Amino acid sequence: MINKRFRLAARPVGLPKRSDWTYEELPVAEPKDGELLIRSLYISLDPAMRGWMNAGKSYVPPVEIGDVMRAGAVGEVIASRHPDFKAGDYVSGMLGMQTHAISNGRNLFKLDAQAAPLPKYLSVLGMTGMTAYFGFLDVGLPKPGDTVLVSAATGAVGSIVGQIAKIKGCRPVGIAGGRAKCEYAVSDLGFAGCIDYKRGPIFPGIAQHCPEGIDVYFDNVGGEILDAVLTRIRLHARIVICGAISQYNNTTPIQGPKNYMSLLVNRARMEGFVVFDFAARYAEAIHQMSQWMKEGLLVSKEDIVDGIETFPETLLKLYAGENFGKLMLRVAH
Ligand SMILES: NC(=O)c1ccc[n+]([C@@H]2O[C@H](COP(=O)([O-])OP(=O)(O)OC[C@H]3O[C@@H](n4cnc5c(N)ncnc54)[C@H](OP(=O)(O)O)[C@@H]3O)[C@@H](O)[C@H]2O)c1
Repeated sequence: MINKRFRLAARPVGLPKRSDWTYEELPVAEPKDGELLIRSLYISLDPAMRGWMNAGKSYVPPVEIGDVMRAGAVGEVIASRHPDFKAGDYVSGMLGMQTHAISNGRNLFKLDAQAAPLPKYLSVLGMTGMTAYFGFLDVGLPKPGDTVLVSAATGAVGSIVGQIAKIKGCRPVGIAGGRAKCEYAVSDLGFAGCIDYKRGPIFPGIAQHCPEGIDVYFDNVGGEILDAVLTRIRLHARIVICGAISQYNNTTPIQGPKNYMSLLVNRARMEGFVVFDFAARYAEAIHQMSQWMKEGLLVSKEDIVDGIETFPETLLKLYAGENFGKLMLRVAH
C-alpha cells in the first residue's frame, strides 16, 4: 500500500502555489500497539488552510515546514491495534492531506455510515456545519423576526446559517458571487433575497432586501463587504466574525473595519469565535441537524473533486469562489 501525501515546503506569499508543498508517495507504515491505520476517503478543503500555512500565533499552531499539511478527513479503519477501534469502522478527524494516516485514536470521532452519506460528515454534520450552528446560535443570538444577513451565503458554512435562520423564524438574506449562486440561495436554501456582490456595490441590495436594517450579520468574508454592512446595522445588532476570506491571501496587512463607530452608535456587538471551542457540544448539533434534515428543513450541497494529486489547484477554488457547496477531495472509493 502506498501513502500519497503533501508536506508543507514553503510559507506562501499571496495565493498558495503547488511548489509550496512537496508531494510524496511512500509505503504505508504498520500501526504499533495502541495505534490504528486509516484509509482516507474524503478530505476537507477549508479556507483556513491558508492561515495554517503562515508562521506565528493563531488559534492553532502553524503547520511547520516539512509537516504533512493539516486537513480534516473521513476515512475507514483498515487495521487496528487500538482497543476502541476495529477494521471497518468509519471515523473523522484531522488526518492530514494524505491517503493513509496512523492515529493513536485521540480526537477521532466514530461515524455512523448508515445514518448519512460519508461526505455529509465533512459538510453539514462536520466541522463547517458545527461552525454554522454554534456561530449563529451561540454568538449571533438570533430572535424570531430578525433580519439575518449572511456573506458567502451558498458556501459550506453560509448555506447552513441561512437555513437555520429560517428554521428559527428569522428572515435570512444572502450575499454571494454570481447569478447562479444567488438563484440557488433563494430557490433551494430559502433565503428571502440574495445580493450578487460581483455585479457592483452592495448598498442598493442591502437597502432593498433589508429595509429596516440588519439584526445579525454572519460574516464569512470581511473587507469591503463588512464595511458596507456596518453602515446598515440596527440597534443592538450582533456581528459574528466567522472568517474573512477576502483577506486571507493579502500581501499587505489585513483591511480592518473602517466603519466600526457604527457599533457605538447602534450599541452593537461584533464577536469572533472558533468552532473547536464547542467540541464538547458537537453531538448536540449533530443530533439537531440530523433531525432537521429528516424533516426536510435542512439540505447541504457538496462539491467533490477526485484525486489527492489535485489538492494545490483545487484549494484555490475557494478563494476564487469557484466551489459550489462544501469543497472536498475524494481520494478513494
Ligand atoms: N471561525 C471558525 O471556527 C470557522 C470554521 C470554519 C470556517 N470558517 C470560515 O468560514 C468562512 C466560510 O468557509 P467555508 O468553508 O464555508 O467556505 P465556502 O463558503 O464554502 O467557500 C468560500 C467562499 O467564499 C467566497 N469568497 C471567496 N473569496 C471572496 C472574496 N474576496 N470576497 C467575498 N467572498 C469571497 C466564495 O463565495 P462566492 O462565490 O459567493 O464569492 C467562496 O465560494 C471562511 O471565512 C472560513 O475561514 C470559520
